[in-house]
Amino acid sequence: FVASEVAPFAKTGGLADVAGALPKALSEMGHNVVVVMPRYYAIDKSKLAHIEGSLCVSMGFMGELWAGVYSSKLPNSDVLIYFIDHEEYFGRGGLYDHFGEAYMDNDNRFIFFSKSIFELCKMIGFKPDVIHANDWHTAAVPLLAQTRFGQDFSDTATVLTLHNLEHQGIIFKGAMDILESGWEHFRPEAYESVGHVNMLKGGIAYADAVTTVSRRYAQEIKTSEFGFGLESHIRAHAYKLFGILNGVDYSEWSPQKDDKITSKYSSKDMKGKLLCKRDIQKYFNLEQRDDVALIGFVGRFAKQKGIELVAEAIEGLLAQNLQIVMLGAGEKWAEGFFSHIAARYGGKFALHVGYSDDLAHKIEAGSDMFLMPSLFEPCGLNQIYSLAYGTLPIVRKTGGLDDTIENFDEASNRGCGFKFESASAHALYHTVMWGVQTYYNNPKAFKEMQKRAMGMHFGWDDAAQSYDDVYRYAIYKKRVSKLQ
Ligand code: ADP
Ligand code: GLC
Repeated sequence: FVASEVAPFAKTGGLADVAGALPKALSEMGHNVVVVMPRYYAIDKSKLAHIEGSLCVSMGFMGELWAGVYSSKLPNSDVLIYFIDHEEYFGRGGLYDHFGEAYMDNDNRFIFFSKSIFELCKMIGFKPDVIHANDWHTAAVPLLAQTRFGQDFSDTATVLTLHNLEHQGIIFKGAMDILESGWEHFRPEAYESVGHVNMLKGGIAYADAVTTVSRRYAQEIKTSEFGFGLESHIRAHAYKLFGILNGVDYSEWSPQKDDKITSKYSSKDMKGKLLCKRDIQKYFNLEQRDDVALIGFVGRFAKQKGIELVAEAIEGLLAQNLQIVMLGAGEKWAEGFFSHIAARYGGKFALHVGYSDDLAHKIEAGSDMFLMPSLFEPCGLNQIYSLAYGTLPIVRKTGGLDDTIENFDEASNRGCGFKFESASAHALYHTVMWGVQTYYNNPKAFKEMQKRAMGMHFGWDDAAQSYDDVYRYAIYKKRVSKLQ
């Protein structure tokens, strides 16, 4: 299982949550799983085991580069994780960028990482049945498994998971020389995208199976609205595309066990949730009021997350009887804009610009509702975490948000959140106010909804079973292709 980020070692988003949890669930099913990621600067070497020897990675005309290897285990498991250590490529502050500016050599960094995975397997004498790659960073793996490393890994099938179609790894075509797999793969049905190399496109073409992280998103990416230009390519490969919803690592995200929140609670005893609300009101200098509807937001400040809709609606919302707290970082205009709002609406609105796992947990626990108005959302994890904390999600009807949140229906008293369809500030405003009015005027239904939400289960065990099916499909396909 190979990924550019794995929680808790390095994380910028949901990919890390998935990579830190799915391998554990697969291992519990009996699979022998090995995880591989880069050893970024922030990962303390002294806490890892050093593996004797070095990997020699050929990088085309750049020659051979050498890498060190470290290992550890995923927390609370026996799953081995290997770290590829290369000072020049990974010994930097950021994973992909320097304060928002993407590193110029991300192409070489991740081709190097993808190749090092095969060299590592050779070094430790491991011939996997399947290599499961994730997103564009490791999307070279399917091609490499068939070409450059085809002889040594002739029985290894590949699966590529698409966590986000927006980031495709579109790079200079000279990357074909670094891939050392032959220029015949630089064609529009494979790696070529208008004169450039498109890593994700190539990965989709060569993987034995492709998955994405919800059923709805697996359908959406076949359309021009969500395909980011790859829709026809995806339609051509739809026969091997599967939608598998992400799960939740409940050892990390459940109010009964969470050490990061001020008071633990459960659906049977919700007293602790009120203490968590007071805790964030205090931390963020909001008015100390038990009776006000408090809405949380945690996420990257990116267009994807509907941040522009929030910006447009925020002053109208803050004119109402409610509080909003936001945690996030990303686009500079948004950081500036919301800081300005925080200065103007102190006591009602608060913001933390930056990344803080502790605060993310505190906001999940202490808020009454959680706002996630994404324009597109392959799966989305925070709305599912919110359910576990009895924090009712307010979401847009797209991707995984639509698959996981059933809309509140007052007549039948069903549902566990508030959904809207139109990607407009107007729809967002009215749906937030629907939630807020339900909180004030129909507390019985609100509390029942919280209980229903907390009783829902999105375990990794179910998802791991579906991946098991996909792995078997990929292995079968690989074997059949060898016979042809
Ligand atoms: P995405 O991967 O698109 O960012 P997800 O909802 O799948 O969205 O996952 C986001 C993950 O990153 C969640 O675990 C969320 O708590 C975390 N996260 C996002 N922004 C922050 C932040 N500023 N501080 C702490 N955690 C964050
Ligand atoms: C991506 C998506 C998000 C998904 C996560 C993990 O970053 O944006 O929707 O939950 O990957 O699969």
